[in-house]
Amino acid sequence: MTDSFLTRRAALGLLAGTAAEAMWQGSGVAAPAAGPTSEVPYGAAISSYALQDDPAYRAAVATYCQVIVPESEMKWDDLHRNRGEYHFENADRIADFARQHHLALRGHTLAWYGAMPEWVNTISTAAEAERELTGHIHTVVSRYRGLVSSWDVVNEPIPDKPVGVTDLRPFVWSRFLEEDYIPIAFRAAAAADPKAMLVLNEYDIEYVGARFRARRDALRHIVRRLLDRNVPLHAVGLQAHLYADRAIDRDGLQAFVSELKGWGLKILITELDVIDDTLPGPEQARDAAVAAKADDFLEAVFAACRPETIITWGLSDRYTWVPTYNKRADGRLNRPLPLDDAMKPKPLMAVIDRYRRRAA
Ligand code: XIL
Repeated sequence: MTDSFLTRRAALGLLAGTAAEAMWQGSGVAAPAAGPTSEVPYGAAISSYALQDDPAYRAAVATYCQVIVPESEMKWDDLHRNRGEYHFENADRIADFARQHHLALRGHTLAWYGAMPEWVNTISTAAEAERELTGHIHTVVSRYRGLVSSWDVVNEPIPDKPVGVTDLRPFVWSRFLEEDYIPIAFRAAAAADPKAMLVLNEYDIEYVGARFRARRDALRHIVRRLLDRNVPLHAVGLQAHLYADRAIDRDGLQAFVSELKGWGLKILITELDVIDDTLPGPEQARDAAVAAKADDFLEAVFAACRPETIITWGLSDRYTWVPTYNKRADGRLNRPLPLDDAMKPKPLMAVIDRYRRRAA
């Protein structure tokens, strides 16, 4: 690992405090002054296919992003379609782009119910489950050691509507290993890359209402259990897929983030976009409403902490997952992201920039 790479990773604030300090001690390079010295890095989830085929997209990524994360290419069913058989080509394409353009790279994700290959359904014992989970994490994290500076180790462990704080989403790892799959995954990731920032990532944390309070309670419970067991958890990722027609619980969110920060954790905004299918009006009004919703969310988070990064789930409206589940009924394009479909910045980008600078 080169000194400039160390500097970049530390400057981007994407290292866990203790890991970063340990790394600087061994590097022979003066550590940067503690505290926020620069703008919060901005980044986006990236598609390897668009990167390959679309020069305008490629240029926009290089222009606007300081950090990138593969939207799908590091998920289980992309990397590990058959037992013991890994396909790294698409993930490597994104990693190469990050290296060439001196961008930080995040990894997403090592344990998630949403992208599991068929073959895991043949797992039949807890021992086998643990072996496969830790084997996958070892292989993938080791491959990108020194390049991926932070990993979404566990993604979306909480069910949509948790009935209590211990309620976990049922899937292969929780079925065989119960709540232990979470510390097992974190410890395996830490063993494969002791310097990476390890993140627990969740959605629907920020709104007004009993369901969302229950989700914050359940996430708080998982975090507390991990910290009490000395599991190497460094940060919590707030996905922030924001619904234009839902109210943000500013006080609830700010209090929640403050509490996590008080426990020594960092906060990342990992998947920001604004789901706009219900927004009426002309484009200009819709873009303003999208920006205002993000503003509401960011205000509450920044009141409590300086997040490590702000990442949107996609960069341009040309490539967004939003219409998959939330297509507009009027036939117009969704506009959930900071750049429009012609790669022109929208008011959402200005809001993000304002918060990035505010923290500098
Ligand atoms: C989504 C991708 O955007 C889609 O392209 C893919 O088909 C399914 O997954 N929360 C997450 C992301 O953590 O991994 C999801 O990404 C969006 C919701």
